Amino acid sequence: MGPESALALTVDTFSREETVDFGVALAGRLREGDVVEMDGDLGAGKTALTEGIACGLAVRGAVSSPTFTLLIDHAAGPCGLPLHHFDAYRLQDADEFLHLGFDEIVGSGGVTVVEWAGRVRSALPSEAVRIVASRRDELGEDVRRLDVAFPQGREDDAAALARFVDTMARGREEGTPC
Ligand SMILES: Nc1ncnc2c1ncn2[C@@H]1O[C@H](COP(=O)(O)OP(=O)(O)O)[C@@H](O)[C@H]1O
Ligand SMILES: [Mg+2]
Repeated sequence: MGPESALALTVDTFSREETVDFGVALAGRLREGDVVEMDGDLGAGKTALTEGIACGLAVRGAVSSPTFTLLIDHAAGPCGLPLHHFDAYRLQDADEFLHLGFDEIVGSGGVTVVEWAGRVRSALPSEAVRIVASRRDELGEDVRRLDVAFPQGREDDAAALARFVDTMARGREEGTPC
């Protein structure tokens, strides 16, 4: 699936705040049972994006980098969806992930984010929102690229986010808040 797909979009963010804002907008398109897989090097912005998702879902508790904890659970706020925030960085393989109860936690409801999804790919559902974050040092120290792909049937969600990205880019160029 290339970026030309109606299910995929690419966004360059020029600050941490823009990545958080994009996460807030993404949260508006997420629903019960969704799994968001995130890949990308250390410092690419996966946790910042998760912070935006948590903010958009208005869940309880601050997002942090769960480097030593595999999972940070955020109870549902007024939106009614909890957030399960996994970081698979330290895991050896997908079996370990499954033994830790991934399926049960996803099945318990809400939205699940998995950082370092590539470490546990075979344990993840085929229907997931996939995001690859990368640095764009050639454009600037604070520039990140987010390649986002929605599963089949979610064209409306991808289109809505693409509109948000356009608005964000216009606001940046015109120097006005969007
Ligand atoms: N455009 C941007 N988007 C996200 N983070 C950015 C951006 N520009 C700079 N940063 C910085 O990069 C780091 C991203 O860290 P983090 O979100 O923890 O990455 P990861 O979880 O992928 O390791 C933070 O220190 C953040 O302030
Ligand atoms: Mg992280």
